Amino acid sequence: IKKVTANKFVAMKRQGEKISMLTAYDFTTATIIDSAGIDGILVGDSASNVMAGNADTLPITLDEMIYHARSVARAVQRALVVCDMPFGTYQVSKEMAVANAVRIMKETGVDALKLEGGIEIADTIKQLVDIGIPVVGHLGLTPQSVHKFGGYGLRAKEATEAQKLMADAIALDEAGCFAITLEKVPALLAAEVTKRVSCATIGIGAGNETDGQILVYADMLGLTQGFKPKFLRQYANIAKQMTDAVQAYIGDVKTSTFPSADESY
Ligand code: KIV
Ligand code: NA
Repeated sequence: IKKVTANKFVAMKRQGEKISMLTAYDFTTATIIDSAGIDGILVGDSASNVMAGNADTLPITLDEMIYHARSVARAVQRALVVCDMPFGTYQVSKEMAVANAVRIMKETGVDALKLEGGIEIADTIKQLVDIGIPVVGHLGLTPQSVHKFGGYGLRAKEATEAQKLMADAIALDEAGCFAITLEKVPALLAAEVTKRVSCATIGIGAGNETDGQILVYADMLGLTQGFKPKFLRQYANIAKQMTDAVQAYIGDVKTSTFPSADESY
């Protein structure tokens, strides 16, 4: 099996082939998603919410992200694996960002890293790219900055914010990002950014004209409870299937119909 590379993402953009991405945080899920044929898997810091039950992405640690990323990288044969750098591991100094980025690359086997932010981290990203680490940017709704914005609403609705986002996207493109995630921004703005930058844009709640799409796997499979933003399409109701299966098991245990003679030694 031929591994998807960062360069392949850019080639797909040029050829107009849409890029499919999902998150994953563990070996078993990543094995299924990779075998299904996805182009890219993000070990998102959304693991903080989905795996650990935190209210936001800020508390997840570098060690915790390394554990998730290693589990996913071990499972994946084809997809490009990207790992989020968690909050606080790349903002303090360029030196610290490089040291933490190197740690993730050495200890996990992922193919690329993702950092939130624009012009303010462009120099850091350039340094990571210079030492050989492919980098994905992330603009629009950047969950690590939730306290600055006071929520998870649509970003860059107004002209000044939209201009800032475009300038940030150009800075990330020039810094050497091979892709930029655009989260919860108007479709028209995402389309304009996509045309303007040479790297691939991967949208979530950013309309249909980005070069690719990403969703949190637990949301699109209907595992997450009570999270149904407009941009989310639910492809399955796994929570219901799990509930039904667990209840069937409970019933079989209570009625002594599990295990059967065949299931016994
Ligand atoms: O952590 C995450 O899941 C993400 C995606 C939503 C882009 O950053
Ligand atoms: Na993230």
